[in-house]
Amino acid sequence: MPHRPVRKAVFPVAGLGTRFLPATKAMPKEMLTIVDRPVIQRVVDEAREAGIEHFIFVTGRNKGVIEDHFDRQAELENILRAKGKVDIIEQLENLLPGPGQTSFTRQQAPLGLGHAVWCARELVGDEPFALLLPDMVTRTPGDGCLKQMIDGYNDKGGNIIGVEEVPDEETEQYGVVSIGEGQGNCWPITGMVEKPAAGTAPSGLIIMGRYILQPEIFPILKDQRKGTGGEIQLTDAMQALMEIQPFHAVKYQGMSFDCGSRVGFLTANVAFALDHPELRNDFARELRKLLQDRTGKKPQQ
Ligand code: UTP
Repeated sequence: MPHRPVRKAVFPVAGLGTRFLPATKAMPKEMLTIVDRPVIQRVVDEAREAGIEHFIFVTGRNKGVIEDHFDRQAELENILRAKGKVDIIEQLENLLPGPGQTSFTRQQAPLGLGHAVWCARELVGDEPFALLLPDMVTRTPGDGCLKQMIDGYNDKGGNIIGVEEVPDEETEQYGVVSIGEGQGNCWPITGMVEKPAAGTAPSGLIIMGRYILQPEIFPILKDQRKGTGGEIQLTDAMQALMEIQPFHAVKYQGMSFDCGSRVGFLTANVAFALDHPELRNDFARELRKLLQDRTGKKPQQ
């Protein structure tokens, strides 16, 4: 029997973004731009490419501008039309989910990622859904990360966690999975641990912010007690769900940037600028100049 399709995606955007203050005092961190696109646009694009039809944002205070970003801007369109810049209007339109394809709900207080996901329960209903943390921006050579995970889901069903391999010294910053025997890039998950102490991680495979979850996660989240950091943790609820449903890890082809951290965000900007067909040459030249100024040496080509 085919697995139930994944039509909806949840984007938790209610976090405070304290690591980016003062930039995030009045502006959501999800609206910070990587080159010319807000972080949240890149993550929504990844979901659209994977065939997602409904986009659910769990927002908080100061996040209204995200809703505006995914709406038409009539005044701007009129000005662009009057100037004959129809191509720009079309580009903007192509980035928008269709009418009625977005929903917004409020978390009201940032009680943790698990709580943010639970806030989407009524909008998701009784069907599997994708969960994308907008902090993590992915860059892939071919199909996007979520598309690769949905291919894994169509094969295995159940719950899927996107994973990425990192060096041993980095595992303590993330959730890490342990895996059993599998084929290709997909393995059954046998356990998961949040931020393991140095040297104790069960593998180098980190949970990097992309999930496909079954709706049975919601009743578990409802009763979930506070965990690490006094927050309601998604990992705790997934561990409980693992006792009754299968979980698989899909190691996607590509890499992610942790745009919730300043270094990750800056690195993403450099990487995407160097990918950009119109910018790459000019930007690479400026970057070389800067590096040369700092080191006094001519950088290698
Ligand atoms: P983070 O803990 O990395 O985000 O949560 P944050 O709290 O905004 O960042 P800092 O640490 O203060 O700088 C990961 C993701 O989960 C969402 C965040 O918006 C982010 O996308 N989140 C987290 C919520 O929506 N609600 C929460 O209560 C916590």
